[in-house]
Amino acid sequence: MDFMNTVLIIGSGGREHAILKALLRSDRALCMYAYPGNPGMEKDGCMLVTKKIDNWDELADWAQENQIELTIVGPEVPLTEGVVDSFQKKGLSIFGPSKDAARIEGSKAFSKDLMKKYGIPTADYQLFDSKEKALSYLEKNGVPTVIKVSGLAAGKGAVVCDTMEQAKSTLQQIYDTKEFGSAGQTVVIEEKMTGEEASVFVLTDGINYKILPVSQDHKAIGDRDKGPNTGGMGAYAPAPIVDQQMLSKIEMDIIVPTISAMNQEGCRYKGLLYVGVMITPQGPRVVEYNCRFGDPETQAVLPLVQCDWYEIFKSCSNGTLAKTKWTINSGFCVAVVLASKGYPGPYEKGKRITGIDDAEHSLANLDIYHAGTTIDENDQLLTNGGRVLAVSAWAETLIDAIALSYEGVAEVEFEGKTFRRDIAAKGLARLKNKTTV
Ligand code: AMP
Ligand code: GLY
Repeated sequence: MDFMNTVLIIGSGGREHAILKALLRSDRALCMYAYPGNPGMEKDGCMLVTKKIDNWDELADWAQENQIELTIVGPEVPLTEGVVDSFQKKGLSIFGPSKDAARIEGSKAFSKDLMKKYGIPTADYQLFDSKEKALSYLEKNGVPTVIKVSGLAAGKGAVVCDTMEQAKSTLQQIYDTKEFGSAGQTVVIEEKMTGEEASVFVLTDGINYKILPVSQDHKAIGDRDKGPNTGGMGAYAPAPIVDQQMLSKIEMDIIVPTISAMNQEGCRYKGLLYVGVMITPQGPRVVEYNCRFGDPETQAVLPLVQCDWYEIFKSCSNGTLAKTKWTINSGFCVAVVLASKGYPGPYEKGKRITGIDDAEHSLANLDIYHAGTTIDENDQLLTNGGRVLAVSAWAETLIDAIALSYEGVAEVEFEGKTFRRDIAAKGLARLKNKTTV
């Protein structure tokens, strides 16, 4: 197996499956492992690590024993817990920020203070460590406002409050019923910004950087952004809200100063920096940073990039990103998430899934990524989570990418299949307006 590079992916969602598929698109021969991975990744040739692992040092031991040459971390929790530090202690190559650098997502108090100190545009804010102080600030400053817990909250830690009642009950949830546990020890109360959001992914080795096609997520469960927020019901890229001029502004006002600020703070940032940007009437402003790829945006972004991903990931960890090459394809990619009925509330699991192979074989330029799936003892594929699959399709025009993706959606069946019918509609409307001006 000398000629093969051995890679481990940490994570089990659609994002990690998309990373695997992107790695496999290059000519490089790869021997792939995933911890814990999912049935779709296994079907694509990835070996799933089933060993019981109690901490990240143990996973690093396993990686060393199995001669893993590169590890790629998908989710934020291992990063904020220090998986990168565990691997680096053993001299193992790993893609992702250190525990210190991952605070950019793990602590909103850290990231807001960083932005303030280095003049990076974001919403004005105050930090609080008690309900009383937060309440008296709220009473003075009023609504609308946004209340956030500082720590990780699986995407549920920010509440946009348009009424004082909502604001008070949010503080109650944080401080009295302690719904966010220790993540809610520190609270951020910030100005509500208006505008459209975009997800900007930046690969960096801490000095050099490359910006991926900008995408837009669709967080609400229902069409036209109605209903409660989810982990993301679909995404598309590139998003026309960020044209070349806007991207240059984001690069100069946000990306360059953020990478430099992290260096000045003594925590060089390596890996994928995800900047959630609000395009406001005053220009682009940071909503949040994440220390990893977004899900489902990754499923819409990676198919547009042609490169040797092994080399790119490795170069971010060893400081040679400037030497790597890639090509961004023309065209668009659209990823539609298929969820279980009831999600993001309670939902049933164990529904049989059919049609994936047929869709992938009959439709070119289409991938189906697994997220909440499992295989039963009879080798049947079943639903096993809220977000079950993502159907990702790419084409020269946005309208064709949308149509192709929904053709794939129609082929896949499971009881209670739930999806939004308007993924990328926002982008299409913007493109249409542009051409008629
Ligand atoms: P966060 O956890 O900070 O990413 O926030 C989650 C979501 O809440 C964002 O994607 C926005 O849709 C919304 N949000 C967060 N902060 C603000 C803000 N200052 N103004 C308006 N909306 C916000
Ligand atoms: N799609 C939002 C996230 O990954 O945080």
